[in-house]
Amino acid sequence: MFDLATIEKFEHIATPFYYYDMELLGRTVDTIARLSERYGVSVHYAVKANVERRILETINIRGIGADCVSGNEVLRALECGFPAERTVFAGVGKSDREIYDAMSAGIEAFNCESLHEIYVIDAMARSYGMRARVAVRINPNIDAHTHKYVTTGLFENKFGIARHEFNALVELLGRCTNIDFTGLHFHIGSQITEVSDVYALEARRAAEIVSWFEGRGLVVANVDFGGGLGVDYGNPDGNDVAPFEDWLRTLTSNFPRREGQQLHIEPGRSVVAQCGSLISRVLFVKSGETKNFLILDAGMNDLIRPALYGAYHRIENLSSRFRKGFSEMQAYDVVGPVCESSDVWGQGRILPMSVRGDLMAIRSAGAYGQVMASRYNLRDFAPAVFSDDLDSAPRYVDYFNPGR
Ligand SMILES: Cc1ncc(COP(=O)(O)O)c(C=O)c1O
Repeated sequence: MFDLATIEKFEHIATPFYYYDMELLGRTVDTIARLSERYGVSVHYAVKANVERRILETINIRGIGADCVSGNEVLRALECGFPAERTVFAGVGKSDREIYDAMSAGIEAFNCESLHEIYVIDAMARSYGMRARVAVRINPNIDAHTHKYVTTGLFENKFGIARHEFNALVELLGRCTNIDFTGLHFHIGSQITEVSDVYALEARRAAEIVSWFEGRGLVVANVDFGGGLGVDYGNPDGNDVAPFEDWLRTLTSNFPRREGQQLHIEPGRSVVAQCGSLISRVLFVKSGETKNFLILDAGMNDLIRPALYGAYHRIENLSSRFRKGFSEMQAYDVVGPVCESSDVWGQGRILPMSVRGDLMAIRSAGAYGQVMASRYNLRDFAPAVFSDDLDSAPRYVDYFNPGR
């Protein structure tokens, strides 16, 4: 991902920053758009993974829709050019204001997660003299075999409507006068790597549930399998584009789609994770009692996944590529500057001998990175820098060598 000319440009940019490889993003989105057409499955990008304007615009121009989980995400998607009729709104807790704004904008559908929510949307639509399109998220009780914090399709999770409410749901939909039922929605988790097993199970379970509802007179015109496709955090260059084709083949071959039924997916992570890296500098090298520490200027406030989920991100020393000859390797605990013991990028990472000022890349940081950043410790936000616009990035100021 990083050629020497790019790394040389990084030398002049203030760290930490998020670097986005726009060529890779374009190639990823082109792949999805082509497969979407070939398999007849429509795609909505899960905006929660990354909301940078340039990223949203790049995705939108390929005809992909937006899948949002808050009112502000809906507004952001619309602002960045996604048409309302390609924008859906999911989430277990939509506020009245969020519902009102999205309904007024005429979004494609609300993905509703409880009977109570359907009731409220119908009542609000009636009192404002509007109509709302509603898809219903079902909890299919499927184990996605992923981290428990990103598992969403089990009965113990707060998402979707459970089987014991199916009869009540049919009855409620029959009574609602201001909503149009558009279909069923599923999303069982994130960073799913057992693609053929887990998604085959999801598609077969969805087929059973769809036929149960159609047997009771509901027309399930749309079936949305959610997102969740995993990426290779261990080998981002070897697998820079996620296995979208395996995913689509598995879903479509395990779901007997009937005439006129539209299938959907909502990938987030797999669209944007690999095009992003968090670029940082080594501030200090410290020899501890039992280990060596590399202290970076990027911390858990910039990218919280390692501290939050114990997530693995590959770490590379970019500056070492300029060093001639043999570079001695060494084990480091790579850490950030935030005053928390969980602010650790990786323990015992074997890296080329590193020195103060070296540029480091924390890879696969494009999804659930910048969007989850905070100003904890009152640190600044790391800005976004795009590969095709490196010259407008904030300049590095060398306070240590003011004359340079
Ligand atoms: C409803 C919904 N759809 C899609 C996604 C996207 O998931 P991922 O980024 O794993 O593809 C999420 C994220 O958890 C979600 O909550």
